[in-house]
Amino acid sequence: MESDQQMSESTSTKTALAVLLRAAREVARNSYSPYSRFRVGAALKLSNGEIATGTNVENTSYGLTICAERSAVVRAVAQFGPDIRIEAVAVANLNDAASPPCGACRQVLAEFIAPEAPVIFAAADGVRTMLFSELFPLAFELRPE
Ligand code: THU
Repeated sequence: MESDQQMSESTSTKTALAVLLRAAREVARNSYSPYSRFRVGAALKLSNGEIATGTNVENTSYGLTICAERSAVVRAVAQFGPDIRIEAVAVANLNDAASPPCGACRQVLAEFIAPEAPVIFAAADGVRTMLFSELFPLAFELRPE
């Protein structure tokens, strides 16, 4: 049985994730994706209470494309500085397709995110929420001495 406090915490977590998912969908409308036509948005809930969003920006030299998740991380650092911590992530696309964060984005998120942070994204079987540690259990780490 959940206590009242646990219950209200999980309700407020769900509300916060729904808000984040909406922000991800909204920013996906700004996607620059003339090559794939795959419009992705990402929203990060930061420990300072702010939400940082990003969308995918493609390039005619395809490999230079930046994903929505990485553009959100870059934007968060540019806006709020190098000490940001990510408490939750939402990823959405406007193509009714699955879009879990790609491997490169998981490694970049790992730099700033708590292992227990929820990541919400469109999966083949609907919207799915996973802990970051489940999504990316063994990040590369280099800690300077
Ligand atoms: N894309 C993202 O924005 N996030 C991901 O995690 C995977 C893929 C973008 C990159 C490209 O613009 C389009 O989706 C198709 O790969």
